[in-house]
Amino acid sequence: MFVYCIIMNRQDIIIAVDGHSSTGKSTFAKKVAARYGLIYVDTGALYRGVTLAAIRAGFGDNLLEIDVEKLKIVLSQTDIRFLPSATGGGSELYLNGENIEREIRTLEVASRVSIFASIPVVREFVDSILKELGKKRGVVMDGRDIGTVVFPDADLKIFMTADPQVRAMRRYKEIIARNEEANYEDVLSNVIERDHMDENRETAPLRRAEDAIFLDNSDMTQEDEMVWIEKIISQRWG
Ligand code: DC
Repeated sequence: MFVYCIIMNRQDIIIAVDGHSSTGKSTFAKKVAARYGLIYVDTGALYRGVTLAAIRAGFGDNLLEIDVEKLKIVLSQTDIRFLPSATGGGSELYLNGENIEREIRTLEVASRVSIFASIPVVREFVDSILKELGKKRGVVMDGRDIGTVVFPDADLKIFMTADPQVRAMRRYKEIIARNEEANYEDVLSNVIERDHMDENRETAPLRRAEDAIFLDNSDMTQEDEMVWIEKIISQRWG
């Protein structure tokens, strides 16, 4: 219990949550952050923000046609940061002073983000923001390369996965719950395609760090996940 208090008070740990898309990384990471008084950082949001900036600057989605020098100029004029949410709790993403929290979740951005996230200058740009945020420590970051590239010395690394069919069904149900149309087979293909892109890109591909703890939540509820992490944190620090 004493050590647990040290975690709460010093707030100096970094927890990296990496893994496949649609595994519930952000929900899990947010809950862990709330449970232990840490700050949650959604690193995918930054890639989405950069993608929005690039779309607005007129970049298309053909990777081979992207002018990297021009992209560097756009990045140098891009101020992207998390600011506390006006509606209370958590933070929201701002691009050059504009709240872009909704726009980064559109299909247009979602369908292009993997392309921009594969470009080294984009990754360097986002990594520098993340490293700055991590200097303060006391963070839980979810992404694809946090435990392997951004914070290889993170205090705790978790690699999340679940069966593609389970992930596709979860995402399909979310879309239907929003009264939007979806086809399960299309959602499943998209899950498989994103896994392929994340795992096979040249720069910072999705990999499980050797010292990451594997969390396959195919048959777990969110409550099960919290019981699981609490056990790990108390074994490690308490
Ligand atoms: O987690 P997400 O779906 O919001 O991530 C959006 C995209 O950004 C996805 O294509 C993976 C990529 N990403 C990445 O390459 N590295 C990270 N650390 C986080 C996200």
